[in-house]
Amino acid sequence: MTIKAAILGFGTVGQGVYQILQTKRDHLTKLAGAPIELCGILVENLSKERELPYSVFVTDQYEQILAQQPDVIFEAIVGEEPGFSYLTKAIDQHIHVITANKVMFANHGNHLLTQAGERVGIGYEATTAAGTPILGTITRLLQVNSITKVEAILNGTSNYILSSIQSEGRSFQDALEEAQKRGFAEADPTNDIKGYDAFYKLMILSQLIYRKQPSWETVLCEGIDQITADQFINAQQQGSKIRHIASIEVVNGKLNASVKPQVLPPSHGLYPVDGVDNAIHLIGDLVGPLTLRGAGAGQLPTASAMVEDFLYILQSYPVKQHI
Ligand SMILES: NC(=O)c1ccc[n+]([C@@H]2O[C@H](COP(=O)([O-])OP(=O)(O)OC[C@H]3O[C@@H](n4cnc5c(N)ncnc54)[C@H](OP(=O)(O)O)[C@@H]3O)[C@@H](O)[C@H]2O)c1
Repeated sequence: MTIKAAILGFGTVGQGVYQILQTKRDHLTKLAGAPIELCGILVENLSKERELPYSVFVTDQYEQILAQQPDVIFEAIVGEEPGFSYLTKAIDQHIHVITANKVMFANHGNHLLTQAGERVGIGYEATTAAGTPILGTITRLLQVNSITKVEAILNGTSNYILSSIQSEGRSFQDALEEAQKRGFAEADPTNDIKGYDAFYKLMILSQLIYRKQPSWETVLCEGIDQITADQFINAQQQGSKIRHIASIEVVNGKLNASVKPQVLPPSHGLYPVDGVDNAIHLIGDLVGPLTLRGAGAGQLPTASAMVEDFLYILQSYPVKQHI
């Protein structure tokens, strides 16, 4: 008897999932109650060299993945499509899905959750702060609490650049190049430094916490690329730090959200967060203020969140086992 899993996308995150399924095989088998069989990997470019045994089925045809009848699909492709269409088809076939794809999930998460209903599990912890378990924690809190306000550092690249400028006196360009050299920033860093990446994550948080998103065009979205040298100097002179903050709260019954650089005094819960970390500071009506901090990107932290979701789904939903 086995549990069949497929991986869509075999870049940084997909390879991380593969690595965890291999290195934790015995442990996962024990927790899942049966061995996990990797029944296929979907890629875009079949001619790329991959470090995979010949026994692993690799294809560029999604229909061939579905033909394997997986129980669970890990999705780690970039962009809205084809991820959304692929997951829609999977849910139609009662396949549980776990995604790291924030652009897709910010746009279509609500649709997928509604489509899945109670029958199919959807894991999306990895979309919002990679390995930092903010969605799981919020889900638990929401059983008893109302969350009145959220402020978060959701983009590790921006936080790394701001930290380097302020603590090491680097220029913006120099800090960005260092982030790229160290593998934190993409070759095209637009989504990070313009604030779009944090925006998508904030919309996913909004959907979870408030069961809706504000109209996207009403949300101020500013990145870190327009901060002036004077603004950095002023913040430093006040003993404060500039940080890129995504925030959301309910004001007069309406969702008020923004993504922008803000000056934080030392008393602020997010003030100590330097480097590539992500962090969320929230206020629950019963728990009060709470801050969670950790890795907001990276191969193993992101893949860890996906495999954690995988186990949760196996433990919460009936999964047919293949003989
Ligand atoms: N990297 C992180 O730290 C991180 C953290 C949190 C969330 N995420 C999210 O995780 C997802 C994957 O990120 P990544 O960093 O792993 O990206 P990546 O390294 O660029 O890998 C993307 C993978 O998707 C495959 N792919 C692209 N288009 C496809 C298509 N049309 N059909 C099938 N496969 C396709 C690519 O195939 P080829 O190999 O053939 O090119 C590649 O294997 C993204 O949505 C990202 O936002 C990433």
